[in-house]
Amino acid sequence: MTAKKPVKITETILRDAHQSLCATRMRIEQMIPQLDALDAIGYNSLEAWGGATFDSCLRFLNEDPWERLDILRSHLKNTPIQMLLRGQNLLGYNHYNDDVVRAFVRKASEHGVKVFRIFDALNDIDNLQTSIDEALKCKEKPHVQGCLVYTISPFHTNETFVDLAKQLEKMGVHSVCIKDMSGLLKPYVAEDLVKKLKKAVKVPIQLHTHYTSGFGSMTYMKAIEAGVDVIDCALAPFACDTSQPCTETMIETLVGTPYDTGLDRQALNPISQHFLKVKGDLIKEFGLKGYFDVNPNVLDFQIPGGMLSNMVNQLKEQGMEDKYQELLDEMPRVRADLGYPPLVTPSSQIVGTQATFNVMLGERYKMVPNEVKDLARGKFGKTPKAIDKDFLINTMHIAEEDIITDMRADDAKAKTMAEFKAELEQQGYMNPPEEDILSYALFPQVASEFFHKNLRYITANKAKALLGQLLEIEDANALKAELHKALDK
Ligand code: CO
Repeated sequence: MTAKKPVKITETILRDAHQSLCATRMRIEQMIPQLDALDAIGYNSLEAWGGATFDSCLRFLNEDPWERLDILRSHLKNTPIQMLLRGQNLLGYNHYNDDVVRAFVRKASEHGVKVFRIFDALNDIDNLQTSIDEALKCKEKPHVQGCLVYTISPFHTNETFVDLAKQLEKMGVHSVCIKDMSGLLKPYVAEDLVKKLKKAVKVPIQLHTHYTSGFGSMTYMKAIEAGVDVIDCALAPFACDTSQPCTETMIETLVGTPYDTGLDRQALNPISQHFLKVKGDLIKEFGLKGYFDVNPNVLDFQIPGGMLSNMVNQLKEQGMEDKYQELLDEMPRVRADLGYPPLVTPSSQIVGTQATFNVMLGERYKMVPNEVKDLARGKFGKTPKAIDKDFLINTMHIAEEDIITDMRADDAKAKTMAEFKAELEQQGYMNPPEEDILSYALFPQVASEFFHKNLRYITANKAKALLGQLLEIEDANALKAELHKALDK
């Protein structure tokens, strides 16, 4: 039978799946063997790039994230590469100057990003404006998707999300994604939301969820019946738990129905077998847990999958595993204090950090990190509920003049590309390419270390001079010592 309304699938194995279950540690070498096979499946898109992958490449894997993108593009000839972009935050934790935002979007598009999924942690539309506008202007004509960051609070209803979708459509996005990063979207709520969205906007609706609370495939089923166009899934070895519902299961579920994806489940077997081995390798190499129990309590503490896996790691490192439940309980209290932000990067980290301090120090707000103050004083945009001024000034100790009322004007004060470039040159990295300036703008310290490790601070002339010097050293040990010294610089 022919499908009347085939559902499309975005595969997350290259990004969210290993971010959720294996702390974003998958290397490009572990992806390469299956890229051509993945490309042949017929996915709507392959999610492969985002904040954590970019950071992890530079910080842990000694990989240039831009080169990773080039390699992905050389294999993925039919399937669009998708990235996750945090609006004015790009992939970092701060707000950037429009100039940097535009440069980043342009470069990502030039390197092969074909789908920009753009979100703002606070659902503040002002934060999405510049990146959406630039993505729409890219000469490669990428698909531009706007997000509804799904959350539950006294300030969020399906109606508020429909309003947001309408605004996104007006801004010119090609599709709207319900981004349910913590798996909070319940099946019947999803049905209602998708129905309302289909009625209110013309662009396709995509659904992204995590299995954290155990709703995953039920939520997809109800959303599919309500007319959702695309769902995000992960291949079996990296599916469920805090990751996405399983690709193979969803394909098979829909076979012979009006929603039949038309994808070949059998063709996925060898790919999944490969990634099962990769998962085992990652768990062993990085001492990861690799799996998570179903946790319906996520409905109360609302922590995204990726963060949950990082928090377990952090607590383990601090020897404070016994404080886990206490920390989970403190999260919603801090969130309420901070105006009910949806918990997604960076707001999830911010609320998580404050909750951690509160629990570890045994006194609430004894210590308030700067990024928490920044969220509270409006540096990341408007919080869904305005934060009590008395709380800002007396509990968080924020000066009244530091409370931000015009965020766009504040963004304009952030560093420009030229300023970041000048900083790199001052450090001795002459004429850095735009890609490296952007890596540096996003993760200054981590990028600097990466450039050192990869000898980018050494100019050709310096390298030649150094070689000349080294050639004159005859003693083998002295030569080795000099070589070490040069490479460590
Ligand atoms: Co996700």
